[in-house]
Amino acid sequence: MIEQIRDQISKAAEIIRRGGLVAFPTETVYGLGADGLNPVAVAKVFEVKNRPTFNPLILHIENKDRLNTVCEIPTDKVYDLINEFWPGPLTLVLPKKSNVPAIVTGGLETVAIRMPDNSIALELIRQSDTPIAAPSANLFGQLSPTRAVHVQKQLGEKIDMILDGGKCSIGIESTILLIENEEVTVLRHGGIPVESLREVIGEIKLFPKKSDRPNAPGQLPFHYSPQTPILMLTLENIEKHKNQKIGAIFFKGNYSKFNFAREIILSRNGSLSEAAANLFSTLHKLDDMQLDCILVEPFPPEGLGVALMDRIQKAVAKFEVG
Ligand code: TXA
Ligand code: MG
Repeated sequence: MIEQIRDQISKAAEIIRRGGLVAFPTETVYGLGADGLNPVAVAKVFEVKNRPTFNPLILHIENKDRLNTVCEIPTDKVYDLINEFWPGPLTLVLPKKSNVPAIVTGGLETVAIRMPDNSIALELIRQSDTPIAAPSANLFGQLSPTRAVHVQKQLGEKIDMILDGGKCSIGIESTILLIENEEVTVLRHGGIPVESLREVIGEIKLFPKKSDRPNAPGQLPFHYSPQTPILMLTLENIEKHKNQKIGAIFFKGNYSKFNFAREIILSRNGSLSEAAANLFSTLHKLDDMQLDCILVEPFPPEGLGVALMDRIQKAVAKFEVG
């Protein structure tokens, strides 16, 4: 780690300890961090993001041994998962301990926790000497940031510091699992495909099982949206918008036969992980180009493609409802 960033991390940790807000890189997306055990600091995160306070935050820890300081561990499956996937893009929702403030969990009795796979993030948490509560560092409902400039654009004026760690290597948020006794349910598809999780712990349910669960992320009808209208790339949509300035995002392959104003290919050779790493930054880029609309090619529904399709469908939904 270069010296300059070392100084900045120390400064950032000082800000966190004093109850301020720091945006920092993780392997998934940039997070907007506050001291997770300080309710006043955490309240500022909601305020700055315009985020409803019933939508709880993830606590970020830097050491697996810290897990049991903030939650109960109801099953050995938790150890199997963290030994295999931490540090990494996997968040576990577990019964909380009483030291976790209600504002972090939206009043729920469970808390979401992960250990990020990014050396700047881990050093920041270590020096802050507290779990860091952090949502993605974007305004509520908007595109997640995968570079420091994306954070600067949306939140720059409102927060104390941005730690620049370059481009996020994974580029899509963590997979979230709810652990209830022996039962495991996916709450959000993300950076670790469900297939890989099943190889380690066997059965995993796919949908939040209680439809009245207010905080299951999958229940927000739309999210992750650029300002420019975004639609699925279908022949029908191409026809409908043919006289407009279109930006097209292709998963793989070569440039198309259509005369789009701008075309971007996420991964020429069809790698889903490369596509994930490029998706949000491509959306940010096209969103800055004064296009009339963005069309996105669907992803294959396997591996990381499931999480990528989830993000696109939620972005598209905003413009479908008007
Ligand atoms: O990769 C990530 O997870 C990034 C980086 C910064 O770590 N963070 C992130 O945070 O995506 P956020 O706040 O944008 O999304 C966290 C999701 C929310 O949709 C929230 O509803 C859900 O986690 N969540 C948090 N605590 C929960 C709980 N106790 N029960 C159910 N869902 C929870
Ligand atoms: Mg988010």
